[in-house]
Amino acid sequence: MFRGKFGDSQGTGYGRHRIYLRGMSEQPKRTLVTSALPYANGPIHIGHIAGAYLPADLYVRYLRARGRDVVWVCGSDEHGAAITLRARKEGTTPRAIVDRYHEEMQEAFTGLDIAFDHYDRTSSKEHHAFAQQFFLDLLEKGAFTEETRQQFFDPVEQQFLADRYIQGTCPKCDHDKAYGDQCEKCGSALSPDELINPVSTLSGATPEMRETTLWYLPMDRHEDWLRSYLEQGELDGSAHHDPKAWKSHVIGQCKSWLDGGLQSRAMTRDLDWGVPVPVEGAEGKVLYVWLDAPLGYITATKNWAERNGADWEPYWKDADTQLVHFIGKDNIVFHCIIFPILLKERGGYLLPHNVPANEFMNLEGDKISTSRNWAVWAKEYVDDFPGRSDEMRYVLASIMPEQKDAEFTWEDFQSRVNNELADVLGNFVNRVVVLTSKYFGGKVPAASGEWTETDVALRDLIAATPGQVGDAIEKFRFRDALQHAMGLVRAGNKYLTEEEPWKVVKQDEQRTADILNLTLQVTANAAIVLAPFLPRTSARMAEAMGTAELPWDAAGGDLVPAGQPLGALPILFEKVTDEQVEAQRAKMGPDAEALGLRDVEPEKPQTTFDDFQAMDLRVAEVVAAEKVKGADKLLQLTVRTGYDERTVVSGIAEHFSPEDVVGRKVTLLANLAPRKIRGVVSQGMVLMASTEDGGLRFVTPEEGAEPGDIIR
Ligand code: MF3
Ligand code: ZN
Repeated sequence: MFRGKFGDSQGTGYGRHRIYLRGMSEQPKRTLVTSALPYANGPIHIGHIAGAYLPADLYVRYLRARGRDVVWVCGSDEHGAAITLRARKEGTTPRAIVDRYHEEMQEAFTGLDIAFDHYDRTSSKEHHAFAQQFFLDLLEKGAFTEETRQQFFDPVEQQFLADRYIQGTCPKCDHDKAYGDQCEKCGSALSPDELINPVSTLSGATPEMRETTLWYLPMDRHEDWLRSYLEQGELDGSAHHDPKAWKSHVIGQCKSWLDGGLQSRAMTRDLDWGVPVPVEGAEGKVLYVWLDAPLGYITATKNWAERNGADWEPYWKDADTQLVHFIGKDNIVFHCIIFPILLKERGGYLLPHNVPANEFMNLEGDKISTSRNWAVWAKEYVDDFPGRSDEMRYVLASIMPEQKDAEFTWEDFQSRVNNELADVLGNFVNRVVVLTSKYFGGKVPAASGEWTETDVALRDLIAATPGQVGDAIEKFRFRDALQHAMGLVRAGNKYLTEEEPWKVVKQDEQRTADILNLTLQVTANAAIVLAPFLPRTSARMAEAMGTAELPWDAAGGDLVPAGQPLGALPILFEKVTDEQVEAQRAKMGPDAEALGLRDVEPEKPQTTFDDFQAMDLRVAEVVAAEKVKGADKLLQLTVRTGYDERTVVSGIAEHFSPEDVVGRKVTLLANLAPRKIRGVVSQGMVLMASTEDGGLRFVTPEEGAEPGDIIR
């Protein structure tokens, strides 16, 4: 059996990708990948997934398929003001909040096949101990300055206020709900004392300034080496990484921080939730969450190693390891400036080799917003589309905000799934399998070896695709990578349609065999190059082709040997219906309760302006009222219209007694044809509002309206 590449012209990416590491061969010996630890203060949405988790998952699946030594860690970020704020809002404890979301986030990740090697949490004992020791090491090395400064203090709650607990007007854009650390409207990073009219979000009180002693990281000391590290990719005088391999928006943000001059930043906070500062006399102080959380990457690596009988240290300390942080763009300064300073000050640890931050994902024409429920929640997607994680992965990878903000819409989701996954990929693979079973009893037919020009072009594409896909993935260009992988499928689909084996079979069985053999090779190759993106679908395809065990490097040539029986192939993709799209759209936005919406009768069919104009509505005044004999529900009213006095029978006796209504101004439908009710002729109708609890209220005109006023 022949399993090999068709040609060498393109290669598989080996040897073409140069990584700048001191004393290293072409590839790093091992790679440590991290994804931003999500705050355990709320559920995960697709913006998070597209930002820091899916790209890392694609990257890591690819490296694993290449047989490379890679470890991917993540975990819940369980400290910080975001958590305590949430707990206060819900009237519960931070512990209850983090426990809930730690579970829920893991379910969301699992449901989307985001397959970390290890998922940890920062509230664990091990993490506290490690972070405390790291802090002490830094303290001992003189990395911090101890300073007594004025901090905002809430006089009502009797506590110092974390930046997030202070709101006020943004000095840059006038937005009146900017936070003490950031304005979410204009994106500026702020410090609390810049806010105009600051208010404590805990009590609403105006905060006071009080003195407190904190440990600060004087970041200005580090500007010079940071510049050469970030701009030249040099560290301690030697090449560290290729700065051109970094995304320009990441470098751009770092430059603007450096150009603006780095300030010192407090590394401890006066709070009661977090990692306690392990210094005597520092009661009531915890580590700044952005000191503690990134150290969670290290704790997670240690816990991964312990569980897997491995050694964690090479992943953080050996020069032949490559450290890659996947994050969203709001985390750039922490991963490219602050964390590197901490690691370098501590010494002995690697600095990141790349930080392929993504930009933001917008949703249906607006920013994603948790508070406005303008989001597609990962967990809800998984529940609403069971077993269909590949579809969401595919769409998010197709529109990933790699270089600029991107936008998700349900309509685009539907069209990509239906037109690209179902109609191209699903249909192609299905046709190949069905035709093979029809003409060759479900066994791979042997090829003649005599290829036409068209065949050769397709075989060249098979040879080139793994290298193109891999190359793009190694450059963090996941959209391109997916396009290359799908390009092979599109080409195979087009080839099959144009070669028409269902016609050829009538004259030339060998040619039919050649066509199907080649499209089976396309399918088996596609299963490999699509596997990072579509793990479930790829597994089904490979199962049907009998190539489930093949590694990435097998791709590029013939994979399915002649005579091999094909396995079963389930339907790969269902279409997404208009109803599903509508249902998903309807879920977004503030829910009915938040808007104060009621469950009421549906509206009547549309009417016309003319119909409305046909009704003569007037202000009237009730001047007399009595019960209608023998009718519990009816009151006989005498109303003054300003031009006459008339009798109206009204079904309100169970709600109002005659005394209640005399003297009221009401709305009268004056030109209603007279009707005889219980022997009384009623000339018109008094309008009432029916309340939620089944009661009735008069529709009373505003003070000043007089009988005879016309309502229009
Ligand atoms: N919790 C932060 C966020 O969601 C990310 C923390 S990343 C880490 O923005 F490096 F600090 F872990
Ligand atoms: Zn602003």
